This record gives sequence, C-alpha cells and structure tokens, in this order.
Amino acid sequence: MNRVPTGIPGFDELVQGGIPEGASVLVGGGPGAGKTIFAMQYIYEGARSYNDPGLYVTLETGLKDITWNMQSFAWDIKTLQDKNMMKIYRLNFGNTRNPEQVQEQVEKELAIITKMVDAIDAKRLVIDSVTSFGVWMSEQGALRHLLFEFVNRLKETGCTTILTSEIPGEDRNKFSAFGVEEFVVDGVVALYFTPPNRSIFVRKLRGTNHSKAVHAFDIVENGIEVRPKDEILWGALRQ
Ligand SMILES: Nc1ncnc2c1ncn2[C@@H]1O[C@H](COP(=O)(O)OP(=O)(O)O)[C@@H](O)[C@H]1O
Ligand SMILES: [Mg+2]
Repeated sequence: MNRVPTGIPGFDELVQGGIPEGASVLVGGGPGAGKTIFAMQYIYEGARSYNDPGLYVTLETGLKDITWNMQSFAWDIKTLQDKNMMKIYRLNFGNTRNPEQVQEQVEKELAIITKMVDAIDAKRLVIDSVTSFGVWMSEQGALRHLLFEFVNRLKETGCTTILTSEIPGEDRNKFSAFGVEEFVVDGVVALYFTPPNRSIFVRKLRGTNHSKAVHAFDIVENGIEVRPKDEILWGALRQ
C-alpha cells in the first residue's frame, strides 16, 4: 500500500509511515486544539518535502486570516503558492438555507475544487472545517447525506484528504461536531488541549496498524511536533 507521509514530525511513525493513499482522514478537536495548524502543515510539508502539490480549502475565515494565522511559523507559504505547489481556496455556500439550493451550491463548489485539483495536479487536499456545513444544513439526516456525498465526491479527485471538525467542549468520547463525520471517513485523529498539555490520538485508520496510545505533542516555531515516545493516560485528559 502506498502511504502519504504527513511530514508532521513524530506523527507518521504512529501510522506506519503515513496515511494510505487516497484515504480521507478526519482531524477533530476543540477550539485551539491545533486542527488548522495540523492541516496546513500537511499541505505545506507535502509541497516542500515531498513535492506533492496540495489544495487547502477553508470554510472558516477569510484568505487573509488563514495566512495571517500561519505567520507565527517559519513557513514560506508564499513561494510555494507562487510555484503552484499549494493553493488556498475559500469556499462559501452563500446565505441560502434551502436544502435544494445548498445541494446546487455544493455541486458548483465540488466542480471548482476538482478544477483546482487538476490545475495544480494536487495530491493532497484539506477541507477546514466540515463543521461549517452545519450552518447551511441543520437537519441531521440531510447533513449526514450531504457530508457523505461530499466526502465521496472528493474521493474521485484521487487526493489524500484531511477534513477537520470542531468538537464543542473537550469531550474525549466525541470526534466530531455532528457525530456523523467519523462514519464517512477512513480515519479519525483526535487532538486534545488540556492546558498546558496537548495530546493526539489516532482513533481509527483503515488498513493501518496505528498506535493505540495517546501521545503528547507541542506547537513550536515549525508547527506541530508529536512526541511518539511519550504516552498519556486517558485519565490525564479532561472527561
Ligand atoms: N507559533 C506558535 N507557537 C506555539 N503555539 C502556537 C503558535 N501559533 C499558534 N499556536 C497555538 O495554536 C492555537 C491555534 O491552533 P489552530 O490550529 O488554529 O486551532 P484550531 O484547532 O481551532 O484550528 C493557538 O490558540 C495557540 O495556542
Ligand atoms: Mg481552525
């Protein structure tokens, strides 16, 4: 099986060297847990260290905010963008709450994403975050269907994909905002912030004998650094 190394120091050894090629992985965590940093580092390191072009789709903040947010790191995103090794795209489904119109918008956005993937021959894709889907689709059944469709359509791009999901509070038994996202993906990674400690847990990853332990990580000037040798006991995480 071909694996796609995230390039996040210490993480790949938790998952036998990387994410199975073409898989989709949900990265869940509370606000400030490090989801956006994890996702951006995956795209950045892919472009920089593995020569994989990547597309970063943000549903959360303006284009300015995401680059501004990443300025605290020693990452030269601009040069890689200029070389078409990475692109950032802001997705917006607009103001509609009408399910049919949302569906139409999703189709349009999927077409744009596919076009952008083809344009730079992207191998890596990020959707940050799928929690925003809940803004447009509140009914659980319809939302689950929409997310399922969306993730499957993204699979057709052939990209190895990271989706982020905001978990309200710090419930260690929850991996996503709506409780449906984890069922439509091939892998789930949870990030925890129990000040001052950060930890990471691979909940599932298809086709992978992944670490079953909770590991400590830090956010430093180069981004996330997992300490694969440091295991955390569940009891140390907030209930
Ligand atoms: N240069 C840095 N050094 C250390 N920690 C940082 C740095 N930049 C951001 N952080 C930490 O990362 C958090 C934001 O992480 P982010 O990935 O945006 O969270 P989210 O899970 O909400 O997407 C900040 O609240 C801060 O604690
Ligand atoms: Mg974020």
